[in-house]
Amino acid sequence: MSKKVDEVLLKINKVYNPPKKVLEKALLTKEQFDDMYKKSIEDPEGFWAELAEKELHWYKKWDKVFEWNFPYYKWFIGGKINITYNCLDRHVQNGKRNKLAYIWVDEDGIEKKITYGELLELVNKTANALKELGLKKGDRVVIYMPLTIEQIVIMLACARIGVIHSVVFAGFSANALRMRISDAEAKVVFTSTWTKRRGKKINLKSVVDEALAQECDCVEKVVIHQRDKGELELQENELDFYELIEKQSPNCEPEIMDAEDPLFILYTSGSTGKPKGVLHTIGGYNLYTHITTKYVFDINEDDIYWCTADTGWITGHSYIVYGPLSVGTTSIIAEGAPDYPDPGRWWSIVEKYRVNIFYTAPTAVRLFMKYGEEWPAKYDLSSLRVLGSVGEPINPEAWIWYYENIGRKQCSIVDTWWQTETGGHMITTIPSYPQKPGKAGKPFFGIEADVVDEEGNPLPPNAEGYLVIKKPWPSALRTCWGEPERFEKYWTQIKGKQWYLPEDVATKDEDGYIMILGRADDVLNVSGHRIGTAEVESALVSHPAVAEAAVIGKPHEIKGQSIKAFIILKTSYEPSEELKKEIKEHVKHELGPIAVPDEIEFVEKLPKTRSGKIMRRVLRAKELGLPLGDTSTLED
Ligand code: WT7
Repeated sequence: MSKKVDEVLLKINKVYNPPKKVLEKALLTKEQFDDMYKKSIEDPEGFWAELAEKELHWYKKWDKVFEWNFPYYKWFIGGKINITYNCLDRHVQNGKRNKLAYIWVDEDGIEKKITYGELLELVNKTANALKELGLKKGDRVVIYMPLTIEQIVIMLACARIGVIHSVVFAGFSANALRMRISDAEAKVVFTSTWTKRRGKKINLKSVVDEALAQECDCVEKVVIHQRDKGELELQENELDFYELIEKQSPNCEPEIMDAEDPLFILYTSGSTGKPKGVLHTIGGYNLYTHITTKYVFDINEDDIYWCTADTGWITGHSYIVYGPLSVGTTSIIAEGAPDYPDPGRWWSIVEKYRVNIFYTAPTAVRLFMKYGEEWPAKYDLSSLRVLGSVGEPINPEAWIWYYENIGRKQCSIVDTWWQTETGGHMITTIPSYPQKPGKAGKPFFGIEADVVDEEGNPLPPNAEGYLVIKKPWPSALRTCWGEPERFEKYWTQIKGKQWYLPEDVATKDEDGYIMILGRADDVLNVSGHRIGTAEVESALVSHPAVAEAAVIGKPHEIKGQSIKAFIILKTSYEPSEELKKEIKEHVKHELGPIAVPDEIEFVEKLPKTRSGKIMRRVLRAKELGLPLGDTSTLED
């Protein structure tokens, strides 16, 4: 073993105690956390009811806290609420009218600030505009926009009047967008003319046009945020966002919603088939994202908080929009790339705005490791107190680099494990808790997590097994849009148990710290983005030259995983580098840049089971030079 690996192993086993700066501002001590956790497990209903009453505004109190009609569950039954009231109105009424809600910056250094008071007015105007378009409670809209204040305003305007939003990450292609629009039967699509990344303008409106050219009869109107005034000549069904809201009243009473009414749909990849429309409802989601934002990030009244995610993913929904607004903090949002115009961009933002809490992904940390510590070293990062990680396991080396070069050994790292389906943080250490590099840590309030074998039997410490969650929590997904059987599968995989199976492999140590090792299924994780093998494979076989395809994830220094595709060509096609390029372009067009394989290998045959299923496990083992494992079901 090399000296370097030895050193890293030594460091993993080291426990990092929370620094003084963190403890001074901590909202909970370790002991208080442990005590609250215990209560949350012994009496979950009492625990959540108390917090719901204390932390949120309800128009009417619930009749019952929790009901479980296996596998379906409800929280705060009969409770009446509006999440935008909790995110906006109550802060404006409580002296925070002039507090900043967001500071938006772009790659050119342009800055836009918006206070809670201004945000409320903009949301109200937009909500009134949505009504004018004929949208009402329960209708669906799709939002295909970059990270801008306008994008967030539209999400909130939907929530204000009970319209269900489905945000589609603006890096997805026309086909991916079309599938999401038609699956949710969206009546209106919101978009922007463009976004900019690494100095290059990316046209978004044209992607929407292409998506709507087929199968989208449900769409009545397209509302466009024109980033340069009057850029477009609008077509009959198209409206300009600012023109539409300009004339509206800044007052709009929040719709009184049921706690279990839907808030949003967000599509995410599974191991088979098309993406699933994960549905979240209002009450439990509002409460759980509020509580996790508050305690996992230790948000103090005058803190500046920055989550570097995009609102197109669940991290953005829960920890840029709903959680941070519900607790009333000031957030930074930065459109564009982390390392453009130079690799100091993010650190200059931290310095300029005195950011206290910084939440990012391991892939970004590894990117900055590659650029070298001289980049962050140029900036004053002393305002930082809590550093977060999310999206994939953070390898101990990256953890330590983050701790030393960004946190300067004076910050706590919170490695938050969760999923689109879970709505909020499930496993992490809060800032005042001892941390172990590479281990996410402990279950959060109300979460009963364990690591078990296939039959659900407990395993000895440090043994690899399946992560399971033994009871529903307030922000758990309520169903998969139009596909209840896919929802039910989450809770019925382990026979004889009523447990949620996240499909992650994990270990649990003697102190109860959980380490996530990666997915147990064929889902890929590229730069923290979840991509289904089936989606990439079907994009590949839709190319005229491809007869059959199988994809696997390979370890990648920066992206965590890269995609490798094995392809059997149709007999009339000859393998060539040209063809590889063409196939990659095709995937980019079908799904978007994040799903493009880094490598393509043309093969004569794919390993299959006798029943015809591709054994990706065998491909992966061969590619990485690992033992093949059980091959008894292999066809030949
Ligand atoms: C999958 C969920 C949760 C928001 C971003 C991703 C992996 C996520 C961690 C972490 C190890 C992690 C898991 C999970 N994952 N966070 N801190 N440590 N793995 O949401 O797209 O729904 O993906 O991301 O494999 O199952 P998502």
